[in-house]
Amino acid sequence: MEKYLINPNQKISKINKEIYGNFSEHLGRCVYEGLYVGENSNIPNVNGMRCDVVNALKEMGLPVLRWPGGCFADEYHWKDGIGPKETRKKMINTHWGGVIEDNSFGTHEFFELCRQLECEPYICGNVGSGTVQEMSEWVEYMTFDGVSPMAELRKKNGQEEPWKLKYFGVGNENWGCGGNMTAEFYADQFRRYNVYVRNYHGNQPIYRIAGGPNSGDYHWTETLMKNVGHQMNGLSLHHYTWGTNKTALDFTEEDYILSMKNAYKMEELVTRHGEIMNRYDPDKRIGLIVDEWGMWHKVEEGTNPGFLYQQSSMRDAIVAGLNLNIFNKHSDRVHMANIAQAINVLQAVALTDGEDMLLTPTYYVFKMFKDHQENTLLGSYITTKYIDQEGKVPALIESASINADGDIVATIVNTSITESSEIQCQIADREVKSAVAEILTGEAHAHNSFEDKNEVYTKEFTDITLLNDGFKLTLSPCSVIKVIVK
Ligand code: AHR
Repeated sequence: MEKYLINPNQKISKINKEIYGNFSEHLGRCVYEGLYVGENSNIPNVNGMRCDVVNALKEMGLPVLRWPGGCFADEYHWKDGIGPKETRKKMINTHWGGVIEDNSFGTHEFFELCRQLECEPYICGNVGSGTVQEMSEWVEYMTFDGVSPMAELRKKNGQEEPWKLKYFGVGNENWGCGGNMTAEFYADQFRRYNVYVRNYHGNQPIYRIAGGPNSGDYHWTETLMKNVGHQMNGLSLHHYTWGTNKTALDFTEEDYILSMKNAYKMEELVTRHGEIMNRYDPDKRIGLIVDEWGMWHKVEEGTNPGFLYQQSSMRDAIVAGLNLNIFNKHSDRVHMANIAQAINVLQAVALTDGEDMLLTPTYYVFKMFKDHQENTLLGSYITTKYIDQEGKVPALIESASINADGDIVATIVNTSITESSEIQCQIADREVKSAVAEILTGEAHAHNSFEDKNEVYTKEFTDITLLNDGFKLTLSPCSVIKVIVK
């Protein structure tokens, strides 16, 4: 029997809703087809945004969407994507699949999408191939409410009022596709570009996110924190869980365990990058922004290799739950995270095929976990076995939070592909009146397809024994469970 202890007296940090963010790039069928089909499409849409996807993302509680890249951001020239659509420049998306980008989805369309989704926009600027002037003018175009050339241009293009823009990224992966820079060189670039990201709406300054490290590049974090820490609000971190160069549904038990090991690396990364940040920012003002994470498999047979289209199974759902629990646990430092990517690309929450749409197991994990958004993280601990021979990857990974009404939300992932776990939960100083649970479970390869869209979905879980101060349950292999305790 594993022991699960939750301490409501130990209130640790706020779980920002932005931890549950998504990322949407001009890559494959994420933006075009996935989110945006255009006003003239037969697919039901509002101002070009597909209704099924918008509704699904709203129900999932999407709080923030990052755009336009990724690597695309550092080749994106925002002026190509404004004004009458018929005059917008067409170009080749050299990075992703060599297809024609007609720029029909640009700044106005992105803000319209976020309006419909009721989520915060997070825009990533171009440092790799763009100028300081270009970035500065984009911010002016979006947010300035006075007389200026860019504000006039925005008005001419039909948007009288400036938009509210909270999050702005000063470049993306500047160690790689965003300019192939050294940490020292990028720190100097950040210093310069960042000056011209002006705060035009004084009472809500822009939250500036510096291009951060690739996975375990601790030198990058050290350099950025030392040289420009005081000028940023957030530092991004990218870490993908690489599969074994096979398609998403093609894996053995050994491959599965390896995926969990790669995914669990996130715990070490946020801890170690966090430790460096603590030395320069002990008050934890600066957020670690994990704005690209998720499983990266070989593309599905017969699809454009540059489109990064992959299926998604229970294995991906376990990786999602594992990561979200880690982010919750580190919510004192992790202020935002954005899974890559929202629709049809990498670990997507939904896939589309023409007018058809399905929700992936990962979608259901996000929807279950939304009850943590804006809660307070509580002290908690679970005993566990390990699923790998080296004893590095725990079978059980959890987090617990408390909401404004005093309800406790506990989410537990069982990463084991074979073993169930009996769990007894004890909540300190609490008389438990009720415990309501939901579970997402299935064989690791289980997934939703266009032939069977409902193989995997969240179900009510009633096999739970109420105790005076907690509950008892058995968690089947490859499961994610949420328990709400009143
Ligand atoms: O998400 C796909 C790509 O992965 C992004 O464009 C880039 O930032 C990362 O390398």
